[in-house]
Amino acid sequence: MSAHPTPSAQPLGAERGGPLRGRVRPPGDKSISHRAFIFGLLSRGRTAIEGLLEGDDVLRTAAACRALGARVERHGAGLWQVDGLGLGALLEPRDPLDFGNAGTGARLMMGVVGGHGIVATFDGDASLRKRPMRRVLDPLLLIGAQVVGEAEGGRCPITLRGAHDPAPIAYRTPVASAQIKSAVLLAGLNARGRTIVVESEASRDHTEKMLLHFGADVLVESEGDGRRITLTGRPELTPRPVVVPADPSSAAFPIVAALVTPGSDVVVEGVMMNPLRAGLVVTLIEMGARIDVLGRRREGGEEIADLRVRASVLKGVEIPASRAPSMIDEYPVLAVAAAFAEGETRMRGLHELRVKESDRLAAISAGLAAAGVEREIVGDDLIVHGGGRPPPGGGVVATHLDHRIAMSFLVMGLASARPMAVDDAAMIATSFPNFRPLMESLGARFV
Ligand code: S3P
Repeated sequence: MSAHPTPSAQPLGAERGGPLRGRVRPPGDKSISHRAFIFGLLSRGRTAIEGLLEGDDVLRTAAACRALGARVERHGAGLWQVDGLGLGALLEPRDPLDFGNAGTGARLMMGVVGGHGIVATFDGDASLRKRPMRRVLDPLLLIGAQVVGEAEGGRCPITLRGAHDPAPIAYRTPVASAQIKSAVLLAGLNARGRTIVVESEASRDHTEKMLLHFGADVLVESEGDGRRITLTGRPELTPRPVVVPADPSSAAFPIVAALVTPGSDVVVEGVMMNPLRAGLVVTLIEMGARIDVLGRRREGGEEIADLRVRASVLKGVEIPASRAPSMIDEYPVLAVAAAFAEGETRMRGLHELRVKESDRLAAISAGLAAAGVEREIVGDDLIVHGGGRPPPGGGVVATHLDHRIAMSFLVMGLASARPMAVDDAAMIATSFPNFRPLMESLGARFV
């Protein structure tokens, strides 16, 4: 049982209408928004943030930063200020830190606490309580942190006693995970000496970029297909303004909706094109998607662009496992695109999908089955047999507290032969609070 009851379920359906038309800007990137608050907390003085994602996940991180001593204030839509205490000066929180549905917030903050001599309890909703945390706790133990309490199997609620004098470690992440990498680097910030993280496949690099932006000494080197990151501990972090670009993982929903809805012509504005996040766009173009990348420019240290997306005839493709880190959160909506495509789409190496907000591999497979789509799971691969026409639809999908499962199958319902419904759309607010009005502004029909 969760300490924090799930908000009451809000079933929602989506049905076919006319073409989708118009211009939209998805909300700010979730990964960067979490990190903006955390770096604000860790630098002494005022950090101004623009374009922040005001989703429940990120607001939980804001609350955790307050509990550790920062002053965090909202000054307008997406405009926030953090007055941080600086490295080494964090306060011990009085109450458990409740991260709701947010794995990123919880795991990154475990890194922060793990590198400070304070004790904190981490908890969240029923989904977060199922997610594996040992992957982050293992390196933190090497740094000198102690796990004072945990639920079975290294699950939340977890009480962590951070290291008073954290040891600089060299750590190879066992899976390509930006969350593990970031937790080690955040703990290493307060260590005397050099912390090294090696990853055999490159994962999103927002923490490294933000470390540089806030004045830390970080060296990022290529090593095979992966990277070696060397961080010199105990820098003087200087507050810097953060501009958050639109989240490519949220942009994925209007993009796929426009591709599969006949006659659509949509522009999705300001989308972050960081190559470590752009695997979905690469894959969709391989499938035959008509996506024009317009107005490439830089914002907040990232390349962004406006994507013009037109309804397209898609064909099945094979997606190598090596591309998974750059589109890890986009497989549910890619599976929806694959259901409309002609032929087989094989997505290789999806083991990490089993430990997301839900077991996404199982949830995608069940959702496709509910829509009458042929699919199979072979080992860690998902194979979708698309018929080159709208799938039958007409099913209700179990979302298991997973926002991306909910949004993906609602997108399917906008173009499937019969409507699709999800058992609960409440969790969409964790990452994309204005999903429904934004999609409706393009002509989407929800029922
Ligand atoms: C994230 C990393 C990814 C991703 C998550 C956000 C981040 O998780 O799925 O939504 O902001 O670091 P993993 O690091 O576990 O792959």
